[in-house]
Amino acid sequence: MTDEEIDPLLEKLDLAQKVRLLTGASTWRTHGEPTVALRPLVLSDGPAGVRGETWDERETSLVLPSPTALAASWDERLLTDLGTLLATEARRKGVDVLLAPTLNLHRSPLGGRHFECFSEDPLLTGRTGAALVRGIQSGGVAATAKHFVANDAETDRLNVDVRMDEQTLHELYLAPFEAAVAAGVWAVMSAYNKVGGVTMSASPLLEHPLKEDWGFEGPVVSDWGGVRTLLDTARSAQDLAMPGPAGPWAAGLLTALEQGLVSPEVIDDKVRRLLRLAGRVGALGSPGPVWRPVVAPGAQRALLRRAVAAGSVLLRNDGDLLPLDPAELRSVAVIGPHAVAVRIQGGGSAEVFPDSVVTPLAGIEEALDGSATVTHRPGLPPSARPLPLARDGSRDPRTGEPGVLVRLLDGNGDELHTEHRLSGRIVEPSVVAEGSAAVEIRALVRPDVGGLWTWAVGGWGDLSLSVDGREVLSGSFPPDSDDPTRVHVAPPLRSVQTEVVAGREVEVVARRSLDPGTGVATVLAAAPPAGDAGYELARAVAAARAADVAVVVVGTTEESESEGHDRGNLSLPEGQDALVRAVARANPRTVVVVNSGGPVTLPWHARVPALLLQWFPGQEAGNGLADVLFGRSEPGGRLPTTWGAAQDHVPVLDTAPGADGQLRYEEGLHIGYAAWLRSGAVPAYWFGHGLGYTGWEYEELTTPATVRAGEAFDVHVRVRNSGPRRGREVVQVYLARSGSSVERPALRLIGYAAVEADPGESVVAVVRVSGRGLAHWSVPLHGWDTEAGDFTLLSGRSAGDLPLGATVTATETNTPAGADSGTTPERTPVTVRNVTESALH
Ligand code: BGC
Repeated sequence: MTDEEIDPLLEKLDLAQKVRLLTGASTWRTHGEPTVALRPLVLSDGPAGVRGETWDERETSLVLPSPTALAASWDERLLTDLGTLLATEARRKGVDVLLAPTLNLHRSPLGGRHFECFSEDPLLTGRTGAALVRGIQSGGVAATAKHFVANDAETDRLNVDVRMDEQTLHELYLAPFEAAVAAGVWAVMSAYNKVGGVTMSASPLLEHPLKEDWGFEGPVVSDWGGVRTLLDTARSAQDLAMPGPAGPWAAGLLTALEQGLVSPEVIDDKVRRLLRLAGRVGALGSPGPVWRPVVAPGAQRALLRRAVAAGSVLLRNDGDLLPLDPAELRSVAVIGPHAVAVRIQGGGSAEVFPDSVVTPLAGIEEALDGSATVTHRPGLPPSARPLPLARDGSRDPRTGEPGVLVRLLDGNGDELHTEHRLSGRIVEPSVVAEGSAAVEIRALVRPDVGGLWTWAVGGWGDLSLSVDGREVLSGSFPPDSDDPTRVHVAPPLRSVQTEVVAGREVEVVARRSLDPGTGVATVLAAAPPAGDAGYELARAVAAARAADVAVVVVGTTEESESEGHDRGNLSLPEGQDALVRAVARANPRTVVVVNSGGPVTLPWHARVPALLLQWFPGQEAGNGLADVLFGRSEPGGRLPTTWGAAQDHVPVLDTAPGADGQLRYEEGLHIGYAAWLRSGAVPAYWFGHGLGYTGWEYEELTTPATVRAGEAFDVHVRVRNSGPRRGREVVQVYLARSGSSVERPALRLIGYAAVEADPGESVVAVVRVSGRGLAHWSVPLHGWDTEAGDFTLLSGRSAGDLPLGATVTATETNTPAGADSGTTPERTPVTVRNVTESALH
């Protein structure tokens, strides 16, 4: 829909109608407006699946691998396909606007939403995000680039004031958003945090560069509850305040307009942008055929499965232990709690509900199909941390069905509504009947072991817990935070222990009061008695010793990687390091699989032969794992983020603001691999690293001898498949410049391309370097600029393995940097040489 068609619609609306459109109608909807044939827009999370309008485990969604895994694929075609899958899911659920992708950077590995962001590198983040945006929007569904900008950590995210210099802001943190805008993203979400002292929902950055310099035409949607004041946000380029119906704009914007405190033109611009978005998703006027490409139901699982292998990063493979030949295996020991309780996704607003999950154990069993004995041992006692009751762990006391009974009660304790649910974690009952004063979860649990069980209730307000009619916990717990995730999605648990008898069913009841502003989330959780760690470990070691190969799956917990808080440390939860060590000692053919969304420290990494990162792999976890283990697929992943060997080696770690509320990005441009290079510390695995099942020789790098500043050019890298099977290689090109007159990272990724080749075959990767490739953000010019002179280009397999180098000379030009003329200058082969470390400094 063109502006010529939209502007007359604006004229049909009075001020009150316009203002009403600018705050949500509910948690996930905007208002409709019949006067202009506008229907409500439905918005939904999130980055790894489309939840839809409800938060209900019965409304299932396809679950993709975590964004870290997607970025690890370095495969834009796959990402576009996955975007199309997300669009298909969005349309199935009636969603117009998907609140993804998350384009913040991996500044510190402690960032709680690391799993939800792509990478430490702005180019990889931008290209990955843009590819996903194109796929989502090809289905007529809006993508939302979030959270604009500098929401790179969670600690005090509603108030933290991020401080960084102008060059860093533009070269690192804004760059992925700029790429998303260039890809045509239809919506952008402003972040909760402040940058330079101004909250992002009122930030001048929404105007410059987002709208004015980059030409973003869509609306800026607030993060949920991110519009917390009236005049500064209304006067800024913030367009839509979510959720609704209440909020500062709903309460005061009309009056402010009438009093002349906000100009009508500002409001018109907001409404115009909203209508433009509505037109794009088919919500304005007579609904057009916005349904475009879809991923057919029969192809969806296969695509998710392919994505698991494509994002899995093989960090080491001594003696080519992998792939395993099923014909040579008689027995496999599959070890670790995560082999069955695999974490497929991170916590928080990104979370969706799968209809089924293929666990690592199930995937391996299915792939071997009885040809080898598969033994599972957890190796650790069950978690002492209470987990929400699961469908197969409890019964509804009223119907006897697996699951729990949820009741809404009025002030007298009388029942207003009941429903049967499949989980002890209820983020929202499907109905909150008028007059509801309490939510209750009731379940029958048959303990498989006797002893001291831990029971827990989660939620805010007056909480109580009873076991077999006896109240064992009660108290009043008002919210201790404004953070929506803590209040509405993941309230803390309060626990108590009682003695139970094995096999004798107990009735457990968790109850919370409903008070304004405290949400409705309610949890009933349980944990069995502490088991015998020595016994479990011994059983796992015995199984490993007796098997031809041991596969140990280790990983993080819900608590450590989730929205709303940062991680306390990078270690695997207790016991897992010892488990890996013991298994690897027992069986020299041990494959360790890491199931985490972001980096964890692996103190034993050099002593295990094969180490595979699976990230949070989504619902096809086990099938994708088996494909890699048994060589049906190559592990396609390359690290999107550098992994340190020890936490105290990591050069940029801080995520918490100081006493003044400021979080200073003092490292400036030097994050990720650039920070490691500057610090001189050597990580366990560099950004870009990842092995396939074949070998590669880097043979020749040719570049134009000179390029005009600001113009794109191609770099040709010839590589030869020197290994035994066909494979795919991600050829990376980095930039270095010694003696620069401006601040620069030691290395910066400026391009990459993937190639495939048969054994013995040489292929040339054509790596496009954009007009920005050699440029830097000039603070005096407040714009992009390119130094004239020599630049070193380096190519190889990771930021720490760059065997080829060449020099390119940039000549001065009047062409504004960033404009991509598309012409490729004359190609002069440049002598290939091996570049030593010193070339980097
Ligand atoms: C998150 C957003 C999310 C929104 C809606 C916020 O707390 O930061 O990423 O889209 O909630 O769930």
